[in-house]
Amino acid sequence: MRKKIIPNYVMQHIQKNPQIGRRELAKAAGIPEGEARFYCRVYDEMNKEIKYKSRGVALFDIHYPVHDKACMNVIAEFLEDFKPDYLVYGGDQMHMDTISAFNIKKPKLIEGKRIKREYAGFQKDILDRFEAAIPKRCKKFFMVGNHEYRIERLIEKTTQFEGFIELKENLNLTDYTVIPFNDIFNIGDMHFAHGWYWNKYFSEKTLRVAQKMIFVGHVHTAQIHTAITPAYSLPKQCVGVGCLCNTNPEYMEDKPNYWVHQFLFWYMMDDGTFTYFTPLIINGRCIINGKLYDGNMGFKKEMPND
Ligand SMILES: [Fe+2]
Repeated sequence: MRKKIIPNYVMQHIQKNPQIGRRELAKAAGIPEGEARFYCRVYDEMNKEIKYKSRGVALFDIHYPVHDKACMNVIAEFLEDFKPDYLVYGGDQMHMDTISAFNIKKPKLIEGKRIKREYAGFQKDILDRFEAAIPKRCKKFFMVGNHEYRIERLIEKTTQFEGFIELKENLNLTDYTVIPFNDIFNIGDMHFAHGWYWNKYFSEKTLRVAQKMIFVGHVHTAQIHTAITPAYSLPKQCVGVGCLCNTNPEYMEDKPNYWVHQFLFWYMMDDGTFTYFTPLIINGRCIINGKLYDGNMGFKKEMPND
């Protein structure tokens, strides 16, 4: 059993008189004043009125144009209902295979694909569509994933493209906070990164490195690792959130994978603590708060082998 932060022989005096000062408590419980001050502060912290403050949604690994259209329909409808204060794009919003190093000298793999067209499609089908579904007050974050980082890699090799092919030249991100590749940022106690590791137990490794409650994408699957230390009363987790792209894209060549469709939403208190939810979207559908979100409504779902 975990030790209580305030031992019973101290708590009984505080409960008798919640306004008790550190001197009085020290005398009554027979403890040093410094210790009494610590317990008074902890008690105040535990009993202060905490109010709900904000709510948010995070979307990882959309990989436009190999995104899952049914998932996009689910997200658009959920955003309208949920009215978030924060919208986080968690990285790999765009696939960028037209400029991938893997596709060099393989023209068949990029046949008919143009980066300009993909930018225009992403702006209209994802950014503009979701922007129309959220309130004006919503703060928006755009994390650069390893797929968007392909642009920087290309410019390193071919500097003459600088100023033409970057995200800021092709997408309207003026209202967005752009988070650089491999960086981390936080909203209250929640930390976000695109994801640095791809190993079997990536959530354990990420938590070991970040040492914060952190949410990541990158691996396209759901995985949670929880750690606890007696020095800190709250559990810490790394939550790996699934993707929103086609789980069987052409380039995977029907290889089995553990990708799942999933997204993250949360409610946050005014002290930065929060409650989070990570619904799985199965066959383009999910149920949240008793409401069915069916992303297949209104169009025939394109199956990989259609
Ligand atoms: Fe990804």
